[in-house]
Amino acid sequence: MSTGWGGQVGIVGLGAMGRNLAHQAADRGYSVAVHDPWPQARAAWSASEDGVGPAHAELQDLVLRMDRPRTVLLLVQAGTVTGDHLERLGALLDPGDVVADLGNAHFRDTEARQRRLAERGVHLLGVGISGGAEGARTGASFMGGGDPEAWGRVAPLLETLSARADGRPCCRLLGPGGAGHYVKMVHNGIEYVEMQALSEAYLALREIRGLSLEEMAGTFDAWNGGVGASYLVGLTARVLRTRAPDGEALIARVLDDAGQKGTGRWAVESALELGVPVPTLAEAVFARALSGRWDARRRAARLLEGPAPSRVEADLTGPLEDAVLATRLCGFAQGFALLEAASEAYRWRLDLPAVAEVWRAGCILRGALLPVVARAFRADPRPPDLIAAPEVAAMLAGRQAGWRRAVAQAAEAGLPTPAFASALAVYDGLRARRLGADLISAQRDAFGAHRFRRNDRPGTFHADWSPS
Ligand code: 6PG
Repeated sequence: MSTGWGGQVGIVGLGAMGRNLAHQAADRGYSVAVHDPWPQARAAWSASEDGVGPAHAELQDLVLRMDRPRTVLLLVQAGTVTGDHLERLGALLDPGDVVADLGNAHFRDTEARQRRLAERGVHLLGVGISGGAEGARTGASFMGGGDPEAWGRVAPLLETLSARADGRPCCRLLGPGGAGHYVKMVHNGIEYVEMQALSEAYLALREIRGLSLEEMAGTFDAWNGGVGASYLVGLTARVLRTRAPDGEALIARVLDDAGQKGTGRWAVESALELGVPVPTLAEAVFARALSGRWDARRRAARLLEGPAPSRVEADLTGPLEDAVLATRLCGFAQGFALLEAASEAYRWRLDLPAVAEVWRAGCILRGALLPVVARAFRADPRPPDLIAAPEVAAMLAGRQAGWRRAVAQAAEAGLPTPAFASALAVYDGLRARRLGADLISAQRDAFGAHRFRRNDRPGTFHADWSPS
């Protein structure tokens, strides 16, 4: 039972996530103390404190009342707000205390902050949490990074607060340093792909098939079964069915402009730095950026020629379902390739099957594909590429014809499908005997003497490329 004010667990930040984790921890028998510097957040908390005790206005009061060694969960806005809180916590805490930052911090910031706090003997864990406010209340997915001993201190708490897949908590220490926040960043990059793929299907169902919102919701419901079942597919149906108080569909009021807080972009930036091809993650980030270019869209729409989306006779629903599933698999493959490269570059020894296990329940990516991904990595921890793992390759083989048709029909109708199309380009790129890169190599040597490698002997060469 909760004992109110003092606490085994301190929670800093009472936004929806912090509030719900505090309630869940209290429900599960932890004594919880909470703090938020903002009066509005404290006022919202007091309306629902439910036996936990009032929120401390001063961080110092929370720290003083906690059992030692202390365990503090930090759930504040990523960026400077997190940095400022950690500075203040660093000055107040004692050696041996542990802070877990559950925000979407950049992994390099986390590592710099870990070093700073370590100077005072305070351990900072960078823990990715996924599942939104609902997950925080009922069971989320936790991606841990940092010192194993410090992790051992918070693991029982986080495991209690986590969702379970086959009875096992979706909560794991995945690596040292910023590894946990890195994994969360890649999770979000894949999340962008899933959302983009679903929005491409929605657009085509609407513009080419001419389905009503209710019919589309029914289609997404039908796709939300078997191997295609996922939280985001189900959410899509729910969103399409939601009505405003006046009875009109709520989606009809939503501006065609998707925002982003940056984790998807960071994943792509990291991939560029490490040289890992993640074009579908990049397209999903760029598609959101394009959606926000209102002025350019308005002006270009008047000037650029193209077909008016027309109804096609044949039913595109099946091909679109194939395209969504195939693109989702490619999103996972690109995300895991990035994790593998980062693990090697930063010597994290990431356990890739464990990442897939942690994503099986509680998180935004949860769905029936995760056991497939986990199985593929268990069978071969280093497949040439996840899409070439036998089970995944077989799933793609069965869907590639429909996937191609969906991309081709959308292109003919003048509808953009950057995620479907870029994933297909990677699929074909991996299976192609030739990529045309021989020509690029030759061009580089011809204009810049950059040298090229030959396919018939080792070494690098320069040639005179004058036909005469
Ligand atoms: C989660 C989500 C969450 C993320 C939002 C918004 O796993 O619960 O990934 O952490 O912050 O989805 O992200 P964007 O604003 O970048 O879309």
